Amino acid sequence: MNEFDKILISQEDIAKRVKELSQQISRDYKDLNPLFVCILKGSVIFTADLLRNIDTPAQIDFMSVSSYGSGTESSGVLNIKKDLSVDIEGKHVIVVEDIIDSGNTLFNLKNLLLSRNPASLKICTLLDKPERRVQDINADYTGFSIPDEFVVGYGLDYNENYRTLPDVRVLSRCVYEK
Ligand code: PRP
Repeated sequence: MNEFDKILISQEDIAKRVKELSQQISRDYKDLNPLFVCILKGSVIFTADLLRNIDTPAQIDFMSVSSYGSGTESSGVLNIKKDLSVDIEGKHVIVVEDIIDSGNTLFNLKNLLLSRNPASLKICTLLDKPERRVQDINADYTGFSIPDEFVVGYGLDYNENYRTLPDVRVLSRCVYEK
C-alpha cells in the first residue's frame, strides 16, 4: 500500500518560503520584541524553523487549543488544553499555526487573545485551505495556499502520525477510509 498520493510541498520549497516569511516578519517587527505563540502540536516544527531565521529580538510561548464543531452554532466554543505562561498585555503577538481550515480555531483564539489587550495581534500560517473556510478570518502571513486535500507532514498529523516527515504530503484515501 502506498500511504501517500504525492509530495505536495517539498522540503526545499518549505525551507525557501519559511525563510522569506522570517525575513518579512523580521522587517515588520524590527525593535518591537514580538511574542510568537506556537499553537501545539501542529505548528511546532514550522515555528522552530521560522524563529531560527528571525533576526530581531523576539520571545516565544506555547498554547494548546481545540475548537468544537463547525459553523456559527459552535463558533464561540474554544477548549484551552494549555494556556500561555506569560501575560500578553501590551505585547506584539504573532500566532503561529500550521494550517487554517474552517477557521474556527483561529476565530475563537483571536477573540480570546484580543480580550487580553495585546499591543497588536497577527496570524502567521504555513498552510491555508481557503475552500474550507466557514469563518471570516485570514492570516497576515501565509506560506502556501493549498487545495482541499488531506495533508500530513512537517508537523501535521493523521491520528498523531506523520508529523516528523520533512515535507508536506497528500495522504492516500486508503489510509483514512479503511
Ligand atoms: C489543527 C491546526 C489548527 C486547526 C485548524 O489543529 O493546527 O489549529 O486544526 O482547523 P480549523 O481551521 O478547522 O479550526 P488540531 O486540532 O488538528 O491539533 P494539532 O495541531 O495538535 O494536530
